[in-house]
Amino acid sequence: MPRPRADLPLHLDRDASEALNVQLSRALRELMRAGVLTPGERMPSSRALAAELGLSRTVVTEAYQQLYAEGWLEGRHGSGTFVVHVEKSGHAVPRRPPREDPPVGGGFVSRTEARAAGLLDLRPGAPWVHDVDRAAWKRAWRRAAAEHPPDDDPDPRGLPWLREVLAGHLRRARGMVVRPENLVITRGTGHGLDLVAALLAAGGRAGVEDPGYERARNILQARGAEVVPCPVDHEGVVVDRLPDGLRLLYTTPAHQYPLGGRLPIARRERLLAWARATGTQIVEDDYDAEFRYDVAPLPALHGLDPERVILLGTLSKTLTPDLGIGWIVATPELATRLAALRRRLVDRTGGTVQYTTAVLLENGDLDRHLRRMRLEYARRRALVMEHLGEWAVGDTAGLHVLLPLGAARTAEIKAKAASRGVLLEDLTRYTRGEPSVHGLMVGYGSVAPAGLRRGCEILAGLLREP
Ligand SMILES: Cc1ncc(COP(=O)(O)O)c(C=O)c1O
Repeated sequence: MPRPRADLPLHLDRDASEALNVQLSRALRELMRAGVLTPGERMPSSRALAAELGLSRTVVTEAYQQLYAEGWLEGRHGSGTFVVHVEKSGHAVPRRPPREDPPVGGGFVSRTEARAAGLLDLRPGAPWVHDVDRAAWKRAWRRAAAEHPPDDDPDPRGLPWLREVLAGHLRRARGMVVRPENLVITRGTGHGLDLVAALLAAGGRAGVEDPGYERARNILQARGAEVVPCPVDHEGVVVDRLPDGLRLLYTTPAHQYPLGGRLPIARRERLLAWARATGTQIVEDDYDAEFRYDVAPLPALHGLDPERVILLGTLSKTLTPDLGIGWIVATPELATRLAALRRRLVDRTGGTVQYTTAVLLENGDLDRHLRRMRLEYARRRALVMEHLGEWAVGDTAGLHVLLPLGAARTAEIKAKAASRGVLLEDLTRYTRGEPSVHGLMVGYGSVAPAGLRRGCEILAGLLREP
């Protein structure tokens, strides 16, 4: 049996406030993690290690006991203490998911995988996150860490300070009449819809635009609603064709997802009259209203009837989905019920993230980012239209354009583009009923302009082929 080592690199600080046994167990744990102490290796006896380090034997015994308890060490009867074989998950787990083959034959490919495989990912849904001002980002997180202490009783509506600065932001940026008591801070649109669905839609009928945001459908279904497709046309949801008996209607009036219509005021008024007459709660997904390049952002539907409309907002498109911050705008009564539901579900939004968001808003960093990104996306949109304008439809807004094509042509172009390394989304993904339109979506959020140009050139070439 190999002799235990007597020369372990262990450095303890006698002046530190941390107890010596705690320092020792941590140091040993690190040596095992790093592979300096290897599985199966025999540890020095507590007496020998204590002598070597000039510690009392009790300190070493306590450290060993801790490591026994955690499963790092094991004792073999009569022969001493040994290092257990532990999977070094902290080192062995790759930082990114494993790469898969390009999706020429189908199957889901994440954006990270697509990038790693050198594909041009023009699927919609992702914003450009690489121009987030990193100095402002770090400043905000640093300030949040310094100023926001751990809270043992966070407000289920969200941090009061964030609700206050956010209300100001929504008044300025979206022209909304909103006060802190109208807001519930969420982790994003999906989360907001989940809470609203849990409160209002379970066991009832919920309308979702068709074609429409498939995740909204998934969430409502998962909360026990019967999801009913609601037809849309080039302007948005068709009020005259709304189904009966809806408890809730999920809609995207600023920029219909995915067809791109903007709901005109006359139709907005009719939608609200219908909602009042039928007692339906409207849920307005305001996901990318800030990205409009011809005129100022349209006012929210919410402003026309704050009792009938719950608005869901998010920073996923305007900043990054990685932050995980969104909000619900509702009446104070509904906000109170949503907050009570969150308590019951033990559902929270992290306090430090909320504080960071408040700093970004207060410093004007979010406004600056929005202004920069509006210009950037407008440029990218112009680039896409320069190549694909003769096929594209949709409003001058958002982060994607739509190419209506016949069913067969859609499938053919999508497959050919994939074989040339360009990923596109098919409208059928967003359709549940009988499709009224077939076509492809071209997103310009997540690929840098050079790649976007290349992708559009390839696509235009394919579209020109007979
Ligand atoms: C229609 C629509 N709503 C909302 C979102 C953002 O959702 P979340 O805030 O949950 O990230 C997206 C993102 O792709 C979207 O396409």
